[in-house]
Amino acid sequence: MKYKISSFIMIFSSLSVIIFSFYTFLKSYNKIFYIKHPITILFFIVIVLLLIILEFINNLIFKKKIEFLSENDKKIILEKNEGNYLSILYRFIFNYNNKKLEKVKKIDHGFDGIIELDNDLPIWWIHLFLLTIIFSTIYFFSYLTLDFSNPYKEYKISYEKQLKEIKIFERYAPQASLEKSFFKKNLINDGKILFEENCSTCHRKDGSGSIGPNLTDDYWINTVEKDLYKNIFSIVWNGSKKNPTMRAFGKSGEIKGNDIEKISSYVYFINKKKIKPNQKKSPQGKKILKWN
Ligand code: HEC
Repeated sequence: MKYKISSFIMIFSSLSVIIFSFYTFLKSYNKIFYIKHPITILFFIVIVLLLIILEFINNLIFKKKIEFLSENDKKIILEKNEGNYLSILYRFIFNYNNKKLEKVKKIDHGFDGIIELDNDLPIWWIHLFLLTIIFSTIYFFSYLTLDFSNPYKEYKISYEKQLKEIKIFERYAPQASLEKSFFKKNLINDGKILFEENCSTCHRKDGSGSIGPNLTDDYWINTVEKDLYKNIFSIVWNGSKKNPTMRAFGKSGEIKGNDIEKISSYVYFINKKKIKPNQKKSPQGKKILKWN
């Protein structure tokens, strides 16, 4: 015969188990499972109603069953259900009823005269043990099939999230412009990589020139700015007015302002460097030694 467990505890614990599983295992799956969603709330209301009905039926069955028992059994059952709910629960958890009702078994091993007490395991221990089995089963399968606590999936999710954040940041972050940009030594290395990706097809990896002019000499076809660094930035941004082969990388949106700042810092650096490439394209444009 079952002990009566008060309805509020039953409802409360069942709901907690359901909400807990929703939160841990289904959260990443579907928006419907978010607790505040109307469908979820409706679902909980229905569950509470069902639990109340179940509790009611259980009580009825309990009363009916007791009618058919012998006087002695009835006494035992009623004794077990004596007192308020908390004291019943206490007795239930710590096996108090069983201890009182049954004699402790003893196992005699015979040969050494030692007698072993064969106590029942406490109910709380057994339940905890069952709970760990249930938990590990759920955990194991959810680990295999859901996103829940799978390190690879977690990594992927947070990686994609970060990429998205970077994209948003880059879209709204202020980009370098001709007016505000200036030579920065710490950007040279990044600029080198970007130069090799975007410019080396026409200017060669070392900037010594092929289709485009040599960028490491003092000869310039285009002088749109008074400052060397700004001149480079401006040409990369606007392209060359004289020759459309040198296109407007910045204006067209092909390369962002911050990246042009890196590239321009690199071009400025290789132009100012004392050591020049051995093989180079012959000079084009005017020789300019003094920029201000
Ligand atoms: C498709 C080929 C091509 C690519 C790619 C290219 N350039 Fe050019 N570049 C040219 C040509 C051609 C000129 C000469 C323009 C002229 O005659 O006015 C030029 C001129 C320049 C100048 C001015 C040189 C001068 O003497 O006036 C700079 C600075 C420059 N390019 C930098 C770059 C950078 C930095 C990149 C990469 C972002 C790049 N270019 C990519 C072909 C290219």
